[in-house]
Amino acid sequence: EKGGFDHFMLKEIHEQPKAYTDTMLGRIDASGKKVVLPELSLTEEQIKNIRNVQIIACGTAYHAGLVGRNVIEQLARIPVETDVASEYRYRAPIVTPETLVIVVSQSGETADTLAALREAQSNGAHVLAITNVVGSSIARDANDVLATLAGPEIAVASTKAYTSQLIAFYLLGLYLAEVRGTQTPEEIAHVIAAMQSLPEQVESMLNNVDEVKAYAEHISKHQHLFFIGRGLDYAVAQEGSLKLKEVSYIHSEAYAAGELKHGTLALIEDGIPVIAVATQEAVLEKTVSNIKEVKARGGEVLAITHEEHAESLQKSVDQVITIPKTLPILTAALSVVTLQLIAYYASLALGLDVDKPRNLAKSVTVE
Ligand code: F6R
Repeated sequence: EKGGFDHFMLKEIHEQPKAYTDTMLGRIDASGKKVVLPELSLTEEQIKNIRNVQIIACGTAYHAGLVGRNVIEQLARIPVETDVASEYRYRAPIVTPETLVIVVSQSGETADTLAALREAQSNGAHVLAITNVVGSSIARDANDVLATLAGPEIAVASTKAYTSQLIAFYLLGLYLAEVRGTQTPEEIAHVIAAMQSLPEQVESMLNNVDEVKAYAEHISKHQHLFFIGRGLDYAVAQEGSLKLKEVSYIHSEAYAAGELKHGTLALIEDGIPVIAVATQEAVLEKTVSNIKEVKARGGEVLAITHEEHAESLQKSVDQVITIPKTLPILTAALSVVTLQLIAYYASLALGLDVDKPRNLAKSVTVE
């Protein structure tokens, strides 16, 4: 049942290239230049009239929503807020018929997310569900469903469901951009082409895990660590931190790199591992200054970046692990794979039950 893998988590990490391909399948037209989402009932008119987007989810799906916010804002230039479902419901959210609410849920059964969906609908919002289970309660109640095609996910810690949610957000962002005319057809074709290379790029990362494994074994001896990043790298850092906590029980925090010096820097001392996700070229220099602040306090920094920046970063950090080159907007789909593998191998090094971490359930149907 584990298809030759020791654990479901590793099997599901390895199923990601297929999950990416399957989630894109039929949603890019034959020319390779246009996203088509015939499953959406939203008319062009409605899409043009959207004034704001609210993305609501829990846990890992919420972290996919943080990437989604960035992607939709960049591509379609619509204001987006992302909230955890258990908070959204109780903050008297401001929703109008021009609000597009997107709920994200692997299982489609998460109680808080389902309740948030109903709250949004009762306020007149159109709700689009991004879910991996098309027969689920959330899929049934939503006005529209954009299915992720990750296949069943068994390990408690979500991996391929998260990355398929990223693919769904890329597709949706491009589609909204097409309809609203915020990107040129050439720009859209450029992103699509880069998306189509992602499965192969993940495959190459999975064939090359020795360095990641050794790093995971190293940090498994630590009790605290930090993840830092800016923009999309910060969104991914939050998912990396959650994954590590879930399966290794090592305490970690993810910080927006520029926010460290507003308090958290006090916790950096000799030998504390800091994982800096540094793929976003536009803010790379800024992230490097934050890395230097950490190094000056004795922090031990791993940078995750593209090959082309490895050499320059090497001077400021203790170790660099590279990911294949892609467009800045798509890096999360690659960098998170490194973070998933760090979490997996750290758990293994500690001899823990990686597929069934203590205190956690796969589907949370209580509020
Ligand atoms: C983390 C994890 C949880 C779920 C969360 C939402 O690895 O699996 O954080 O992401 O409970 O679950 P769904 O997506 O089923 O609504």
